[in-house]
Amino acid sequence: MTKNQKIISDKLLKWYDHNARLLPWRLFGGSKPDPYKIWISEIMLQQTTVQTVIPYFKLFIQKWPTVDQLCKSDLSEVLHLWSGLGYYSRARNLHLSSFLINSKYNNSLPSTESELLKLPGIGSYTAAAIMAIAFNKRAVVVDGNIKRVVSRLFSLEKPVKENYREIWDFTNLITPNIRVGDFVQSLMDLGSEICTPSRPKCYQCPVINNCQAKTNKKENFIPLKKRKLEKNFRNGASFFIRKGQKVLIYKRLDRGLLASLDALPSIGWDNQVDQRLEFIKKLEKKKISRIKHEFTHFTLNMDIYLVEYLENENSKLPKDFIWADINNLKKFSFPTLMQKILKKIIND
Ligand code: ADE
Repeated sequence: MTKNQKIISDKLLKWYDHNARLLPWRLFGGSKPDPYKIWISEIMLQQTTVQTVIPYFKLFIQKWPTVDQLCKSDLSEVLHLWSGLGYYSRARNLHLSSFLINSKYNNSLPSTESELLKLPGIGSYTAAAIMAIAFNKRAVVVDGNIKRVVSRLFSLEKPVKENYREIWDFTNLITPNIRVGDFVQSLMDLGSEICTPSRPKCYQCPVINNCQAKTNKKENFIPLKKRKLEKNFRNGASFFIRKGQKVLIYKRLDRGLLASLDALPSIGWDNQVDQRLEFIKKLEKKKISRIKHEFTHFTLNMDIYLVEYLENENSKLPKDFIWADINNLKKFSFPTLMQKILKKIIND
């Protein structure tokens, strides 16, 4: 590390001491972080913003404060708490990992990269973040915010998606050997609060004098934006099948999109063939509404149909289908898509 690189990390650490965001997985005043909490937070933060994660994280820790307690839970409870957060394989992996940590590591999260990488749901980014933040071990952490901050500090013009190696090398240069967790989080906070994607607040930045993009007056153009690929569209149909005060819901297949979650019967959008939904074709239905929902790789236009189920159609329900009380749907694990559909039906 050169003198200039040390100046950057010193300034960032000093700034962090006074400006760190108060987030529920962080501890201040010299206390050591709880590796379990850091693990849960890092998994939740993988594809979700800090603001969305906070209430889910608090509920999760309240319900399962230790690995031991998580490993005694049912997967269905974890999925229920996760409903609305998306990317449900994260919840399944956490649950699975809790058994491994319980049996192999006596309920303590391991602290080496090779052991962390063996836990389901932990890739190289998350392993590095846990090592640095939970155990204060030197690791190079490069998330979305850090990619932008480092690109600007060293005037790296390429779009971040095409420049991982160079960004990693520069992040490595400025990562100190002490207070690594604080350093990593100072870069994350700087990226989120000051070195923002558009209109960065350079006048508040602790490393403005070390920023090559600023020196070159390019802070608004670095890193270059890559044109987003056109998104695909899909159409689907979902069915609100009503019998008095009851609605028909079912558990989705245990594979593919929104696996094992509760849902209204829906077809045509998820590239799945579920024989259990064949009966829908015979029902008399009326289109009542439509919603749009964004998945990462496609936009879904979902038509919503109402079916009044007649008493004399009392045939046996397929496996994992139930008549749920319309006034008591909270206890089910509906993904955001289904919550949106239910809200639309109830509000219209
Ligand atoms: N994103 C991922 N990990 C984070 C952390 N520890 N603090 C803030 N944002 C994050």
